[in-house]
Amino acid sequence: MTTIASARLVVLISGNGSNLQAIIDHIESGKLNAIISLVISNNKNAYGIIRAQQHNIPTRIAVPDPEETRQQYDCRLIKIIDDIDYDYIVLAGFMKILSDNFVDHYKGCLLNIHPSLLPRYKGLNTHQRVLDAGEKIHGASVHFVTPTLDSGPIIMQVAVDISPGDTPATLANRVLKKEHSLYSHVLSMCIDETVELSGKHVFVNGRKINKPLILESE
Ligand code: GAR
Repeated sequence: MTTIASARLVVLISGNGSNLQAIIDHIESGKLNAIISLVISNNKNAYGIIRAQQHNIPTRIAVPDPEETRQQYDCRLIKIIDDIDYDYIVLAGFMKILSDNFVDHYKGCLLNIHPSLLPRYKGLNTHQRVLDAGEKIHGASVHFVTPTLDSGPIIMQVAVDISPGDTPATLANRVLKKEHSLYSHVLSMCIDETVELSGKHVFVNGRKINKPLILESE
């Protein structure tokens, strides 16, 4: 029997780390063939750091220095990451815009999760903006990261119905729960199948996908 080596993930976080936790849980339950080589946070108070430590995952805190340019900070991150072995760099609530240099350096192995059905509602406060616009459907997307913010080719999305009484908080909570399945699902696909970025397109097992894949509700 051939055993496929586990994929090595570097996870970048800024806060609560519930997506990180979901990835850890999927790995520990054997649903995701991966190991987390390192968790990096740009925020020393991120609860995600504690989550990682509770599972004996190495952590690094890299707080931007006020004197440092974005470029310089990202060079520091690159040095940390390139010092270890990785297959994917996983942005999981990493709330810092990355320089083109960083994005180009990890082209094709840099993934992000965003709380909206991209290309709609890029940027911040997506739940409030979706409600203000009177949308009926919201969701989350996992995409390859390219230099323009939240604009990289989308691999997969999950949709969430908006209920009449929803507030930004109730909606955020429902979307987040879906994010937890979505990210691990995409990571499994990347690890067990071939998911590639070529130009502006995503190829799955050599086939170009013309629109984002949809994760059906469980
Ligand atoms: C998640 O909703 C994620 O999609 C979002 O931050 C939250 C992090 O939650 N990311 C972005 O908005 C990036 N543009 P978590 O720390 O509990 O995983």
